[in-house]
Amino acid sequence: MRIRTHTNPFNYFTRMESLDFSTVLPHFSGTFDFEVGFGRGLFIRHYATMFPERSIVGIEVRKNPVELLKIKLKKEAIKNAYVIHGTAEICLADMIPDGSLNRVFIFHPDPWFKKRHHKRRVINPKFLVQLRPKLAPNATLYVSTDVAPLWDSMEETILDSGYFNTIEDPVFWETCYLTNWQAFSKRDQRTTYFGTYQLRHEENSH
Ligand SMILES: C[S@@+](CC[C@H](N)C(=O)[O-])C[C@H]1O[C@@H](n2cnc3c(N)ncnc32)[C@H](O)[C@@H]1O
Repeated sequence: MRIRTHTNPFNYFTRMESLDFSTVLPHFSGTFDFEVGFGRGLFIRHYATMFPERSIVGIEVRKNPVELLKIKLKKEAIKNAYVIHGTAEICLADMIPDGSLNRVFIFHPDPWFKKRHHKRRVINPKFLVQLRPKLAPNATLYVSTDVAPLWDSMEETILDSGYFNTIEDPVFWETCYLTNWQAFSKRDQRTTYFGTYQLRHEENSH
């Protein structure tokens, strides 16, 4: 059995300095992709290598994996990925400019399976209200989980927000999706649930 310690993002309040992302991302064009809760960062490394012309920023609340990923990115000379230690909520509020996110990735976000922890879930109505102004026109949101009740709640919350339409992007899921948690799920033969959503046309003009 794997024993993991979880950092509760809601006990984390450190405010963040704003950052001019063009100083840390060589191809920065004003918009970028964003991964919430990257864990060990397998996806970020894979995605940044697959798409050298895109820029990806990742946020993770556990400090150790952030430091380890920084070392790996440097060693592998991956320059189009930038990773930040902190919570997604504070990062969105303090660092992410309005209209700047093209693709948002939230994979296996919640270690909180228990019902009494449901308020800690990353994808909640307040989070989506916070995320929406940060999205670029036609932005896409990619989410996954291997916990069936969490999947129901994630999908319902996203669609109930009224900001997104469900779309299909099988190529993404077949070729880009690679995470540590996905590997554990595969090994333990758990079903993974995937969702792809696009900002609704009416929302683009907000
Ligand atoms: C179950 S792990 C999955 C990691 C990775 N996405 C994967 O698929 O392998 C969830 C990760 O999200 C992080 N996390 C959870 N809530 C977060 C938040 N609000 N802000 C930043 N990171 C968060 C946790 O610290 C943890 O590393």
